[in-house]
Amino acid sequence: MNILVLLGSPRSQGNSATIAAHLAEAATALGAQVRTVELNGLSYRGCQACYACKGKAERCVLQDDLTPVLAAVESADALVLATPVYFGDVTAQLKGFLDRSYGFLAPGYLAGGQKGRLSRKKLVFIQTQGNPDQAFFKEIFPRVNHFLEWMGFADGQIIRACGLGPNRGEAIPESVLAEAEQTAQRLVEGWGLRPSFR
Ligand SMILES: Cc1cc2nc3c(=O)[nH]c(=O)nc-3n(C[C@H](O)[C@H](O)[C@H](O)COP(=O)(O)O)c2cc1C
Repeated sequence: MNILVLLGSPRSQGNSATIAAHLAEAATALGAQVRTVELNGLSYRGCQACYACKGKAERCVLQDDLTPVLAAVESADALVLATPVYFGDVTAQLKGFLDRSYGFLAPGYLAGGQKGRLSRKKLVFIQTQGNPDQAFFKEIFPRVNHFLEWMGFADGQIIRACGLGPNRGEAIPESVLAEAEQTAQRLVEGWGLRPSFR
């Protein structure tokens, strides 16, 4: 299995990156091929609304550092998106990627046709935040997942860690790291919904 991890934080050793690395290590140990990309190190533009992806090109035609990343999403079995909360949302780095993923919506979707170009890929969303109250920012994942489901991602799963400030990856609860390991196992050994979601 081929897993692509996209890090949305500018902090390479930060909280979301640490949780993602834990998942990646566990998945690698189980035989998965994992590639991790730090979006912050790339140079790319947001969607330019050229609509070429809704015409013959069928994919994003912009050429920059995100071009190979979008291609890697297409060939991955699973996508892991990791982001801290910035002002109540994903980071700008991840939002830029999400806007460019417009090319994963099929050309016919605007006319009410088939929505997604991708087929049943797995999705994991890792979200960290300073606010310790889980009720805050719980709407981010459902909102992002709504659009990713259109593209063809199925059974999206979220891993959250709240109350994590500027300390780099050192205060992440064991329960969250264990969740990352369990998620890696579910990714590699067959996707299953958590009992509470059935
Ligand atoms: C510019 C900026 C904006 C932030 N906005 C929020 C916010 O709206 N809510 C929140 O709970 N934490 C906020 N935080 C805190 C981070 O989400 C939190 O420290 C997170 O765990 C950092 O993850 P990282 O180490 O992966 O970057 C913000 C941090 C920064 C630098």
